[in-house]
Amino acid sequence: MKALVLSGGAGTRLRPITHTSAKQLVPVANKPVLFYGLESIAAAGITEVGVVTGDTEQEVRAAIGDGSAFGISVTYLRQEQPLGLAHAVLTAREWLGDDDFVMFLGDNFLIDGITSLVGEFEATRPDAHILLTRVADPSAFGVAEVDGDGKVVRLEEKPQRPKSDLALVGIYLFTAAIHEAVAAIRPSRRGELEITDAIQWLIERDFAVGSTLIDGYWKDTGTVEDLLEVNRIVLERLHARHEGSVDEDSLIVGRVSVGANAEIRNSTIIGPAVIGSGARVHGSTIGPFTSVADDCEIIDSGIEYSIVLKDSRIEGVRGVEASLIGRNAQVIAMPQAPQAHRLVLGDHSTARISA
Ligand code: G1P
Repeated sequence: MKALVLSGGAGTRLRPITHTSAKQLVPVANKPVLFYGLESIAAAGITEVGVVTGDTEQEVRAAIGDGSAFGISVTYLRQEQPLGLAHAVLTAREWLGDDDFVMFLGDNFLIDGITSLVGEFEATRPDAHILLTRVADPSAFGVAEVDGDGKVVRLEEKPQRPKSDLALVGIYLFTAAIHEAVAAIRPSRRGELEITDAIQWLIERDFAVGSTLIDGYWKDTGTVEDLLEVNRIVLERLHARHEGSVDEDSLIVGRVSVGANAEIRNSTIIGPAVIGSGARVHGSTIGPFTSVADDCEIIDSGIEYSIVLKDSRIEGVRGVEASLIGRNAQVIAMPQAPQAHRLVLGDHSTARISA
């Protein structure tokens, strides 16, 4: 069994972060979302992994390398244009051969991993197997209609009037039967070859399409709110680790991970929270549910329920919350309470300022 990991796409809803970074590489608990997926693929015993990339190929390659750090062997497959998930399968056709594979969308986060799902698929071996979960807003997803016996009777991509609250999770198990389907379907209204339509094509032709209703936590991390929530969920399972230096005037409350060479002075860190290697935290209160990446500086500030990416600096600012701060960003207080705000924001930035 192989794995096909999709790591292309523009990540428009995460701009401006995605102007300079692939959406799958935004870190939660200081680790890219994509890495959790790769780890769960490796944990399921799959070693041959094809990573489909788009415009952010160089960055994805730099992050994953040959895959040996994960115990997998990675082949990069370039999708020249983002023409849909089924198009990604077409792109990977030659590499996949006739092998079974799990297709994993690189921005999806599934807390329980895929080991038991892969085991179930290998034991029963339907032509395709999908994962479903109940959501509050089904029209944002592929939606499944299921009969009284739990059999999938119909799938629809982002329907205006969803027939159920069962969303398609972005993790699919396929046999080679999917290749005939992706070659047969036509582009959808949004101009993409939808994997949802390809599976629907299989259903209409009486191929066996199994499904598992999952109840563990799952998220498609398309927005800042999604990432902050996944960050919270991952931090809730964090193991405390103290590698940096914490002075006597500081207080560490609950489960906090402090990376090597981090320096905590005269500060309070409320867990769960993670402070990256080489970070400097002085005179500040951090947490709960906050991830501060490597080499950041948080000086005389307060921050909670947030993600701060590498090499950023926050100084003299209290009350930062529910924020995603990009790499090498600066959030700095003005010396006196200003009547004006001086901002240098990238394209597509959002700044919420109390007026
Ligand atoms: C894709 C699929 C959709 C599925 C979702 C899960 O949507 O098309 O059926 O429910 O992933 O993450 P997209 O992320 O392309 O909008």
